[in-house]
Amino acid sequence: MIDLSWIIDPIYIATIFFFIIGMYRMSHPLTARSGIVWAGAAMLIATLVTFLTPNLTNFALMAIGIVIGGGFGYIAAKRVAMTGMPQMVALFNGMGGGAAAGISAVELLGTINTTSSLAVIGGIIGAISFAGSIIAFLKLQGWMRPRPITFPGQQILNMGVLLLALISGICIVLNPAWIPLSIAIYLPLFFILSLVFGVLMTLPIGGADMPVVISMYNAFTGLAVALDGFSFATPNYAMVIAGIIVGAAGSLLTLQMAKAMNRSISNVFFGAFGATEESDVQIQGSMKPIEVDDVAVMLAYADKVIIAPGYGMAVAQAQQKVKELADLLESRNVQVKFAIHPVAGRMPGHMNVLLAEAGVAYDRLFDRDEINQEFPSTDVVLVIGANDTVNPASHRQGSPLFGMPILDVEQAKNVIVLKRGQGKGFAGIENDLFYRDNTRLLYGDAQETVGKVVQALKKL
Ligand code: TAP
Repeated sequence: MIDLSWIIDPIYIATIFFFIIGMYRMSHPLTARSGIVWAGAAMLIATLVTFLTPNLTNFALMAIGIVIGGGFGYIAAKRVAMTGMPQMVALFNGMGGGAAAGISAVELLGTINTTSSLAVIGGIIGAISFAGSIIAFLKLQGWMRPRPITFPGQQILNMGVLLLALISGICIVLNPAWIPLSIAIYLPLFFILSLVFGVLMTLPIGGADMPVVISMYNAFTGLAVALDGFSFATPNYAMVIAGIIVGAAGSLLTLQMAKAMNRSISNVFFGAFGATEESDVQIQGSMKPIEVDDVAVMLAYADKVIIAPGYGMAVAQAQQKVKELADLLESRNVQVKFAIHPVAGRMPGHMNVLLAEAGVAYDRLFDRDEINQEFPSTDVVLVIGANDTVNPASHRQGSPLFGMPILDVEQAKNVIVLKRGQGKGFAGIENDLFYRDNTRLLYGDAQETVGKVVQALKKL
């Protein structure tokens, strides 16, 4: 057979450029879709070219793995609703971490040599990412209590388990003669302890911190893959560089999201967000409903309207109607802007993607820092399915949301909140915005109510 193995490394290098172009294009909603295609094509080429590696003996196993994994991924990605995307990302990322841990295990089962310490570090990081991502998936899917699970002595237990995992990892590499145990004991112990640590580390994280955590585990998986790529007798450069890119991008995203939430990384992991409830806070006032026709009149005669969308807009798939409403108002010379909170919805850029899909021009979207000072001069703010991201409780010391930057919509002259009923936001915290004197509630599914407002406006 012709030896084509010389072609592998040049093609790996080419795919790395594809990955970088893909990442670059993903950074803007208008080019994001093509960015995914570039990165997907790079992954496909890198996978295919790996089959040219000399002395491969397990073609059938590799093909079966690709068919099962690829088939599951294809069906899951096709079926998932936009609102279920974070859990799917958590699950897929967990699989990546698990695969990295599996590669480490196979490497460590072979000869222990100078690169084995890299396989150990890759193994622990991959196993933590796998177990932690599965817990994040269960919490987001609602199959597990989303609130933080805390108990006395938790941090000490967590640190103890991590320490034991590290010690067993060191024993795998050094195999000290004075400890009467063999690698057959250290190796399973190492992976079990790493997995247990991943679970324990994620249990106390809850509520609004979940996006930060998923992104952090994403970075972990990248790092584990890169370390595994180095640990082979002949390093696999595609794994090293793709892993480093994922690790770096995931770390940057984690830091950006933590900054947007005004949380430090240590606070995310050890702060048990939302574990306490504000039992002593009595919200004054009542929730005052408003009718569609009154909303239409308020909007029609406003000078300036800001739309603050949230998760409920995604659930209702109301973005098309919202765009229609904004266009209609603009045709009546009302100034319309969109206020986008960085963690509105359930994934980074969720609102931007939905609104871009509906054809809302990108220059109409403003992030929190750009628009917050404009609320006092705004006649009407339409809060469409947003809750935590507009909750003024974040300004109140003692609130579980304290310190999280929000859209200060309560400063507008009038606030109209579109929601179905008395449902709380993702963090499960009462929102006193709904009880304020300048707030009115338009109840119903957002797609339906926005549609009715559009119809009412057309009649004015
Ligand atoms: P949420 O706080 O989740 O509130 C959503 C609101 O939408 C609820 O008040 C709900 O009230 C309403 N709603 C649900 N379905 C609706 C429908 N069909 N029509 C109209 N309203 C509907 O939303 P948010 O302000 O966007 O905040 C996002 C939260 O998710 C944050 O806590 C964030 O940390 C977290 N999170 C974000 C991400 C990322 S990266 N964006 C990932 C995971 C978690 P009713 O039930 O009464 O209708």
